[in-house]
Amino acid sequence: MARRATYFNKIWDENLPLLVLDGGDLFGDRNRRAQIQSEFLAKQTASFGYDAIGLGERDLNYGFEFLQQMIAEYDLPFTNANVRNAATGELLLPEYLVIERGGVRFGICSVLGPAHRITTMAARDVEYEVADPVTVLQQLVPRLRELSDCVVLLSHFGEQPTETVLEQVPTVDIVVLGHALRSFDRPRTVHRAFVLAAVPEGQRIGRADLGIDLQTGQVMTAQIALTALNEAFEHDPVMLAEVDAFKQRVDDLRDAQRAAFPRDQGSPAEQFLGDNNCKACHTEIHRQWRKTSHSRAHLSLRGRNMQSEPECLVCHTTGYRHYNGFDEHERANLSNVQCEACHGYGTQHDRTGEMLKVARESCTRCHVDSERPCHDEHKDEAFDYARFWERIAH
Ligand code: HEC
Ligand code: HEC
Ligand code: HEC
Ligand code: HEC
Repeated sequence: MARRATYFNKIWDENLPLLVLDGGDLFGDRNRRAQIQSEFLAKQTASFGYDAIGLGERDLNYGFEFLQQMIAEYDLPFTNANVRNAATGELLLPEYLVIERGGVRFGICSVLGPAHRITTMAARDVEYEVADPVTVLQQLVPRLRELSDCVVLLSHFGEQPTETVLEQVPTVDIVVLGHALRSFDRPRTVHRAFVLAAVPEGQRIGRADLGIDLQTGQVMTAQIALTALNEAFEHDPVMLAEVDAFKQRVDDLRDAQRAAFPRDQGSPAEQFLGDNNCKACHTEIHRQWRKTSHSRAHLSLRGRNMQSEPECLVCHTTGYRHYNGFDEHERANLSNVQCEACHGYGTQHDRTGEMLKVARESCTRCHVDSERPCHDEHKDEAFDYARFWERIAH
């Protein structure tokens, strides 16, 4: 972000007529911290002076209301022509934007590929309806031609499907690809359209210096430059200070969330030894455990990009609420639901039957039927000791 600021400062200093476009997917993953990060991103993106941003499916990760809030708060120029509120039938965003720059009127529109599924983490969200981009563009682009000199499509669609669309709507002049897998470092045309892509977003930024025929709207001359925002790029000090302050806020928030799960169980004098220790003597049981989903519980969080969320770690790791238990910074070896998550501290190993008793009583700490945030992720099955033990027995 601080390098991006340096880049934009230089560009704005050139004083050329400049159109700043984004193909969409501004927002982050579906968890609360990423949402806060996305708000920060929205604010800073606005400060770079974007003219138009296409809607990506990720931009609805936190629901339509959040997107609307960001747009209102930071004046973000989102646009989309094919996603509607299913209940009202209305488009979510302005259908198109017309922006005059350097004597050229640009008619800018955007479509979202129907294959990019919208999944939102908002508790209550509107139902979305994604219309076929070809049908939508076939009637929109001719209208845009009337209103502008040059038609720009922000295609949140990927490369291949966009080319198919362009075959059926051959009157687009400029395309910026969102959700693309590769960047184009030289001019590229599909039919009359001049196609641009710079990925991955945030790490690379594309610039095209274009000469445009005012009569036809077509791109006549072009020069492309891709800039990697890497170490070679200095940080803008003002933005860097903002980013640092923001990171601190996020850390504080994580600590606050962690505080909801105080480390107050067990004893500071005892240690978890890790499943590798047990494996040395209980080889067969270890092999058995490996086959159960307990041994992959942390991985399941990774699949949802929730691997650092305290509210999930409490059940998907070992000893999260115990002294010397899983620590997101230090004790990565206690991830997953290991032997000691059920049997207790290895340093309390004995043969009195205590470790068995503790284990039999452990299940309902995590298999709570009502309080599991991941409850509706899958089959909603009430916990029953006999039946559940049977599935993982050793
Ligand atoms: C520290 C928390 C924790 C404890 C204690 C725990 N479990 Fe689990 N259990 C989990 C988690 C988390 C999963 C899901 C793992 C995954 O797929 O990510 C799971 C999954 C399971 C499954 C597989 C469910 C399925 O069909 O997919 C069974 C069966 C099960 N546990 C039984 C038990 C039994 C029996 C006990 C007690 C003897 C127990 N668990 C103790 C957290 C725990
Ligand atoms: C109170 C304990 C608890 C908490 C907190 C918890 N989980 Fe789980 N999770 C479980 C248990 C137990 C299972 C096993 C499935 C069952 O019992 O139906 C499970 C299963 C899962 C699965 C299913 C694995 C699969 O492939 O079927 C996923 C994914 C998951 N949890 C993600 C999460 C996420 C994300 C969070 C945080 C938002 C979370 N869990 C918080 C206890 C918990
Ligand atoms: C999900 C909880 C859970 C996990 C994880 C777990 N166990 Fe157990 N284990 C139990 C329970 C419950 C029993 C007792 C069952 C019974 O009532 O006999 C048990 C029994 C045992 C026994 C006694 C077996 C016997 O023959 O009597 C040993 C040894 C043992 N576990 C070792 C391990 C080791 C080593 C690991 C890790 C590789 C492990 N357990 C992981 C819950 C667990
Ligand atoms: C140096 C070898 C050794 C290591 C390491 C070891 N155990 Fe054991 N464990 C034994 C022996 C021997 C027994 C008794 C025979 C049996 O039940 O297999 C036993 C018994 C148990 C029992 C049954 C206790 C009872 O009261 O009947 C459990 C549970 C258990 N171990 C869990 C663990 C766990 C969890 C770990 C890792 C933290 C572990 N063991 C590490 C050797 C070991």
